[in-house]
Order: sequence, then structure tokens, then C-alpha cells
Amino acid sequence: MATQLFEGKGHAAVYQKYRFAPGKELQQLILSYVEEKRTSPTELVVDVGCGSGQGTLFLAEHFKKVVGTDISEAQIQEGRDAPCPPNLSYLVCPAEELPFEDGSVDLLTSFTAAHWFDIEKFMKEVVRVVKPHGCVALSTYTVDMRLHYGNCSEKLTQIFEEVKDLIFKYSHGRIKHVLENYEEIFEALPFRDKRRITDIFDKIPMTVAGVVGYLESVSPFQTYMKHDPQAAKTLLQETEKRFLDTMGVSSRETQLEFWVRHVCVLGCKGP
Ligand SMILES: C[S@@+](CC[C@H](N)C(=O)[O-])C[C@H]1O[C@@H](n2cnc3c(N)ncnc32)[C@H](O)[C@@H]1O
Repeated sequence: MATQLFEGKGHAAVYQKYRFAPGKELQQLILSYVEEKRTSPTELVVDVGCGSGQGTLFLAEHFKKVVGTDISEAQIQEGRDAPCPPNLSYLVCPAEELPFEDGSVDLLTSFTAAHWFDIEKFMKEVVRVVKPHGCVALSTYTVDMRLHYGNCSEKLTQIFEEVKDLIFKYSHGRIKHVLENYEEIFEALPFRDKRRITDIFDKIPMTVAGVVGYLESVSPFQTYMKHDPQAAKTLLQETEKRFLDTMGVSSRETQLEFWVRHVCVLGCKGP
């Protein structure tokens, strides 16, 4: 069964504000893979579960026609409201019923979303819509993030871990795919030519407010908010204060680095 998280307007707005795009290493991995495998020009790229376009935008810099699809109207609206190049468009549709012709897609991507889909139905759609020799890239960032700032990186990461442990009590069962580095998703991709890379690293410059906003944007936090709004709000305020006290600064706009690891499943359909 597909899940229905990320669909509310409030969540979509927080998501658009605080979620980051795939870093250069992940972008390069995907671009090089397509270059290695392609036998004809890459015409159509589809980014499934695109949210408000975090990964879709960079694809539009490299490919002729890019379509971002998502089940959430609110997420797609955020994407449409943001500055958007003319070769990029958005569509509301489930990953399990993609409105594309058989064998029409050169590259199908999904960033931090495939674990929310009905994997069996989604893989059937992948096989149907991807062209012969077409490629697939399914990635996610993992949950073992680290915070870096001066000599207090360990302490900041420890605070982040404590908050994550607390809110992950509210996480959906599908997070197991992320914790397992997309192993099951890799196994489910019915292409013979495939690989799974688990050590793609990204150092993202962020402010303290950005890290707290990221925590607010994760689905377990949104579930916690529904369960106990006051406690969830207090948790964010206290976390921000703990970060600032540890860093010895007062501004929530102070810059630090957010270190993220990505996993990516790459596959190429046979002839
Ligand atoms: C964690 S967000 C990832 C968004 C974006 N790709 C990114 O990199 O940040 C997961 C997205 O998958 C979408 N989603 C969840 N289930 C879906 C489904 N069955 N079909 C299409 N989209 C789905 C959600 O609405 C949400 O926008």
C-alpha cells in the first residue's frame, strides 16, 4: 500500500523551505551513469515523488524535458510556485500509476521517496515506462547525519541524535528501507544491470534555524505534532537553544555544516 504522508499544505510549505537538493557527488554519479549507459539522446526524464522539486530542478539543467510527479497536490503546488525553467513541468499522480506511454522515459529518478511507494506496483510501472536501455536512479539520504561546527561537532551531533531518537518513535514502518540502505528496493528492481552505492557524502552549509527546520520537516516530527502539538513545539525551541548554547552563539542564523550520507540504486533496462 502507498502511504499518505507529506500531503498537507503546512507540511509542504515547511518541506519546501527546509529540504535540500541532492549534492554534487550524487548529481555527478547519476549524470555519469546515464552517460555510460545511454545509446540515444536523453529526451524525457521523470522524477517520481518529487516533492516541491528538490531533485527535479538540477535534472532540468542537464536534460531536454523533465517532469516531476508527486501524489501530493500541496507539494506540486509549492514546486509550481517556485521559479521554474521552461523545460520542467509538474504533475500530480501516484508513483504506482504513471501517466506515461510504455517505453517512453529515458531516465526515471526518485529522491528520498521510493520507500514511501507500494514497491511492487511501482517497479511494474518502472519496467513499463522506461525505454529499452533507459536508466533508473532511486536515492535517499540516510538518517546518520552529523553536525559540524568548530570544536563542538560531537556534542551537536549527540543533541541531534537524541532528538532524532525521540521523534523516531513516531516514524512509519517504511523507514526500515532507509535504515537498510535501500537493500530491499535494490532487490526489487527487476533489471539485471544494476548497482547500489551506499557511501555518497554531502557537506551542506546550513544555519541553526535550517537544522531545526529540517527536523520539523521530517515525517515522524509531523506525526508527533499531530499527537502532541505543544510538546513538539517545545522540543524544537529547546533543541535550538541547546544548539546555540553549545556553540556559544546567540543567532539562529549562525552557519554550520550538515553532513549527510546518501544511498543510490542505479539500474539500466535491457534491450
Ligand atoms: C521525503 S519526500 C521527498 C521529496 C523530494 N523528492 C526530495 O528529494 O526532497 C517524499 C515525497 O514522496 C511523495 N509520495 C509519497 N507517496 C507517494 C506515492 N505513492 N506516489 C507519488 N508520490 C508519493 C510525497 O508526497 C513526498 O512529496
